[in-house]
Amino acid sequence: MKKHQHIAVTVLAASLLAGGAFVWQLQAADAKEDAIKDFMKAYHKAPKGVDPVCKKATDGKATADELKKLVEGYKTMCAAKPPKGDDASWKEKTSKLLAAAQDLQKGKEGAADKYKEAVNCKACHEVHKPKKQE
Ligand code: HEC
Repeated sequence: MKKHQHIAVTVLAASLLAGGAFVWQLQAADAKEDAIKDFMKAYHKAPKGVDPVCKKATDGKATADELKKLVEGYKTMCAAKPPKGDDASWKEKTSKLLAAAQDLQKGKEGAADKYKEAVNCKACHEVHKPKKQE
């Protein structure tokens, strides 16, 4: 291979790599946003006729397994970036939810009330949910 060809190939390979990393980062961000939506659909708003896990949790009817998944979900939410609103407010809200769900898991007294207060759909949506959707 002649020298200038070699350089061209090297440059091409480098830009492909950089481009790949960029796309990969975009996908990672998407996955995190979807994590919030998926969580909402799975735990905050169940299909018609089924109590969502958050409702069961406030009623003290969630199983140990459901509470475990709830705690995992809030951990993911804490780590995710909100699609709207500032990070500090998001962290505060999601860590409150996480703490309350962990209290429920431990069967702490007053945990259901604490959770009920933390899982305030409207308070969080007003600040962090993009307006256009739904
Ligand atoms: C700590 C904040 C927070 C709380 C509490 C919260 N949500 Fe959400 N919710 C969000 C955010 C942020 C989105 C937007 C996600 C996006 O667009 O990426 C959302 C989106 C949704 C969506 C739309 C999902 C989709 O497919 O686009 C539904 C349905 C929903 N929430 C239901 C609820 C219900 C019901 C409650 C209360 C029981 C609740 N949420 C409590 C933050 C919250």
